[in-house]
Amino acid sequence: MNVLLTGANGFIGRNIEAALLAAGHQVRRVSRSYGTDFSSMLSPDDWLAHLDGIDAVINSVGIIAERGAQQFELLHTLAPAALFHACLQAGVCRVLQISALGADATAFSAYHLSKRAADDCLRNLDLEWFVLRPSLIYGQGGKSADLFMRLATLPFIPVIADGQQKLQPVHISDVVATVMRCLTSQETRKTLDIVGTETVTFAEWLQWMRLAQGLPRAPVFPIPYSMAMAFARVGKFFNPMLQPENLRMLQAGYSADVQPLAQFLGRTPLPVESRLFFTDVVPSGSAI
Ligand SMILES: NC(=O)c1ccc[n+]([C@@H]2O[C@H](COP(=O)([O-])OP(=O)(O)OC[C@H]3O[C@@H](n4cnc5c(N)ncnc54)[C@H](OP(=O)(O)O)[C@@H]3O)[C@@H](O)[C@H]2O)c1
Repeated sequence: MNVLLTGANGFIGRNIEAALLAAGHQVRRVSRSYGTDFSSMLSPDDWLAHLDGIDAVINSVGIIAERGAQQFELLHTLAPAALFHACLQAGVCRVLQISALGADATAFSAYHLSKRAADDCLRNLDLEWFVLRPSLIYGQGGKSADLFMRLATLPFIPVIADGQQKLQPVHISDVVATVMRCLTSQETRKTLDIVGTETVTFAEWLQWMRLAQGLPRAPVFPIPYSMAMAFARVGKFFNPMLQPENLRMLQAGYSADVQPLAQFLGRTPLPVESRLFFTDVVPSGSAI
């Protein structure tokens, strides 16, 4: 297959690309690093030349915080919607959208709402679409996973309020496996939550990350919610992920039924294991 992959040099994109190439597909890469900025790709006409000879499209562009021209509405909604309409015009039927867990009826953040708007657009088109909503993805080199890894090395575990926020992390291997399955599946027009088998609290997740780095468990240091939000208003200047709205999403906690994904993959997602924190895609069939 000839696959157009947006966000090809991102954490998810580069792992998808590796799997596509290993499976013998050809990949056309799109991102600013390859000369295409989503903020100027807002009409289907902008996309048509990119779709020449393409059999499937995977959209994996995204940001976790707005900065300058990097705006949720442009990158998450308008450019993807233009791309999806262009796919319809160009006869590229199979379209995969990497959305995010929580981009559903419960969404309240600009991040989730902008993702959901693109998901809704795709779901309304006569295409073989897949909307994939991963939870927190772990593995080598993910931005949020890296931030949490660094937090976990502090002598104490900083948590918001009681640290009991729910997470259901999923390994990058399972995200990539789902994408590869979508490319060949007879069953299409599906929205799938990509979640792991274990639901864990934020505090416990950081403890697992300590253990994975050879550190003993550490005492938990609760930060009242209002104080954490005040820190985030300053912290966002040092790390774009430390936005008050991102803390609100963390506080909300997200989890989902793993069964639909297990059924689609024909296996359960990988159980959390220390070495997976430092691993890209685990080749299928390898013992873990
Ligand atoms: N990682 C997770 O835990 C996770 C979980 C759930 C959902 N997601 C979603 O999955 C998607 C990808 O996440 P990721 O972790 O792979 O993010 P990432 O590592 O930050 O990659 C983002 C990608 O988007 C591209 N990009 C950013 N701004 C762009 C622009 N203006 N025009 C064109 N391309 C642009 C980047 O390439 P350039 O810099 O070269 O432009 C990069 O390839 C995002 O939508 C994210 O919300 C991620």
